[in-house]
Amino acid sequence: MPTDQIRLLVVEDVPQVAQYVRGLVAASPRVKLLDVLHDGRAVTDQVVQQRPDVVLIDALLQGRVGGLELAAHLRRAGLPPAIVVITVPQRPVSTDAERGVDAVLSMPFTGYELVNLLQSVHQAQLERDPAASSRLLGVFAPKGGVGKTTIAFNLAVAIQQHVGAKTVLVDGSLQFGDLRALLKVPADAPSILELPTDRIAEADLADVLWRDPSGIDILLAPPRIEMADMVTPRDVEKVLSLLRRVYAATVVDLPTNLSDLTLAFLDAADVILEVVTYDSTTIRNTVSVADTFRAIGYPPSKIHYVLNRADSTGGLDPAMVQSTLGRVPEHTIVSDGRLVVEANNQGLPFVLAAPDAPISADVRRMAGALVSSRGPVGAGA
Ligand SMILES: Nc1ncnc2c1ncn2[C@@H]1O[C@H](COP(=O)(O)OP(=O)(O)OP(=O)(O)O)[C@@H](O)[C@H]1O
Ligand SMILES: [Mg+2]
Repeated sequence: MPTDQIRLLVVEDVPQVAQYVRGLVAASPRVKLLDVLHDGRAVTDQVVQQRPDVVLIDALLQGRVGGLELAAHLRRAGLPPAIVVITVPQRPVSTDAERGVDAVLSMPFTGYELVNLLQSVHQAQLERDPAASSRLLGVFAPKGGVGKTTIAFNLAVAIQQHVGAKTVLVDGSLQFGDLRALLKVPADAPSILELPTDRIAEADLADVLWRDPSGIDILLAPPRIEMADMVTPRDVEKVLSLLRRVYAATVVDLPTNLSDLTLAFLDAADVILEVVTYDSTTIRNTVSVADTFRAIGYPPSKIHYVLNRADSTGGLDPAMVQSTLGRVPEHTIVSDGRLVVEANNQGLPFVLAAPDAPISADVRRMAGALVSSRGPVGAGA
């Protein structure tokens, strides 16, 4: 499963060594190489953007920032990844987790040694910090009515029930709170506003989450439109980091605008699931949002396209749509108007109401590709 892979970022300025590591990693299905950076300058930004599980740093890195200095800096910054330092026998380095050296690998090393070490530091990191492996998925589209809420709800249920990872669904559509209507939640059910914003403790969560009959927990939007103004981007950041510590997966249903609040959710997301349909306005808006995401600095791998109603092309040429988007959508979901409308009207997830329907199989497949069953330690369903 792709998410079982260890996401690796390499910082190496010697081209031959970089090439050697690339070759070793390419041969291992367990490791996904995100990037090789040739100097220490942009590393912190890249760690924030690309969210590697492990960073491999050459201790002898030349330039303004040395390798060990960089490791210590990343650790001080409190960034999640485990750090492995490579060195040569003549320049021994000792393991010192406080200074960002979780493990040392001395050259020359084999692919077997490298991959084994990456696995063991990654595993140790997961045990120390469950939040590091928690997945935050934002369901977004720059166009209304494409199926965001439907997909977010069913995906969250599929992750919990099918993948077996404890999941929370967040209504990030703070003004209109689509989930309240979909799930027929009473008006006095608690919302994100009930979370104390100065200091949020894990214990506060149970009181403000809505437990849906489908088994997932839901953090609702405020009950009235104007109350959305009471939530700040900083609150969003805090709430999400708290949810990460408790849940193996967080799915956020987002609105169509790119407000500061939406951006706070998108920034925090590991993957933005951008819903597209065969509709020319949707495709056009998707392309312009891709420019915005690029300008913000989101790596292309952070965005997955979800082609909804994939079998209703509405006269558009699928090949043309792919070339406009610049790639094949990572996930596809078929149309099933009757089932979706019926399930939504009853506030039920179709993945449970009709598990054998092709649309349910599509959502389960997507859930499995996005979240690994291993999940963070102690947070399995
Ligand atoms: N795969 C599908 N097959 C058939 N109908 C679908 C599918 N996905 C969504 N729909 C229908 O499309 C409509 C819009 O869905 P939904 O409310 O989930 O979209 P949304 O993107 O959240 O909309 P909004 O922008 O209003 O928040 C609903 O009537 C739903 O039943
Ligand atoms: Mg919606």
